Amino acid sequence: MQGFFQSVISQFETQAEAVETFRSGKGRPWGDHSTCCFCGTDRFFRPGYEACLIDQWIPALDGVEAKLKAGAKVADIACGHGSSTVLMAKAYPDSTIHGIDFHEPSIIEARAKAAAAGVTNVEFQVASAQDFRGEDFDFVCIFDALHDMGDPVGAAAHIRKALRPDGSFMLVEPLAGDNMADNLHPLGQIFYAFSTTICTPASLAQDVGLGLGAQAGQKRLTEVLNQAGFSNVRRATETPTNMVLEVTG
Ligand SMILES: C[S@@+](CC[C@H](N)C(=O)[O-])C[C@H]1O[C@@H](n2cnc3c(N)ncnc32)[C@H](O)[C@@H]1O
Repeated sequence: MQGFFQSVISQFETQAEAVETFRSGKGRPWGDHSTCCFCGTDRFFRPGYEACLIDQWIPALDGVEAKLKAGAKVADIACGHGSSTVLMAKAYPDSTIHGIDFHEPSIIEARAKAAAAGVTNVEFQVASAQDFRGEDFDFVCIFDALHDMGDPVGAAAHIRKALRPDGSFMLVEPLAGDNMADNLHPLGQIFYAFSTTICTPASLAQDVGLGLGAQAGQKRLTEVLNQAGFSNVRRATETPTNMVLEVTG
C-alpha cells in the first residue's frame, strides 16, 4: 500500500495538470507525471508479482512453465521499472527475457534493477508495444499496461506477429467485471480514480487513443484481442486484484 500512497501523492504534485487534463479531455502522456508516479506504480504492483507470477500465474498456463525452464525467448512488454522482467530472469536462467517500454527513464531504472539483481539473461529496449523489434518469441506478457496504451489492438496484433505459431501471450490486467455496477466497490473505485487521472489520459495522448480504462473487464479485453487476430482468450487464474488471461491462436 505504500506504493499506492506514493502514486496518490504524485497526483497532488501536479494537481493543476490533472485538473486541466480532466477538463480538456485531451490526454496526458505517461511520461508527463512526476517520478513518484513511476516508483509508486512499481512498488504497488511488485508484491503481487513476487507472490504470484512464478508460483501461480505461469503454472496456470498451458505448457509455458516447461518451455521457460528449458530456455525460451520471452518479451515483457510495457515492463516499466522491470520488476516482472527481473523475476522471470531469476526464475528461468536458461531463458532470455526482453523488457520493452516506450518510456526511456523507466528502462534506465529497469536496467539498474537487473544489474543490482545480478541477472544477465535480460535485454532491454526502448520501443512501443506496436513496433518493438524481435520475432519468434515463445512467450509474451503484459502486466497492468494494455489499457494504458493508445492502440491496444495494434499492440496485440504486433505481439501476435512476433510470437512463434505455438507461442502464447499472458495478459495481466486489473480485476474488473464487465459492467460498471460490478466495480463500484472500494478496490474498483481506487482503480477508476487512477484510471481517470493516469491510465485513460495516457491512452488518449497516444495514436488511436482508445481509452480502455483500468476497469475494462474481460469481455471488452476479449473484443480487443479478437480484433487483433487472437482466437482464444481464457481466464487462466485471478487474484483479488488481477485477472490473468491466456491468449493464443
Ligand atoms: C501502469 S504501468 C505498468 C508497468 C509495469 N508493467 C508494472 O506492472 O509495474 C504502464 C506502463 O505502460 C507503458 N506504456 C504505455 N503505453 C505504451 C506503449 N504504447 N508502448 C510501450 N509501453 C507503453 C508505460 O510507459 C508504463 O511503463
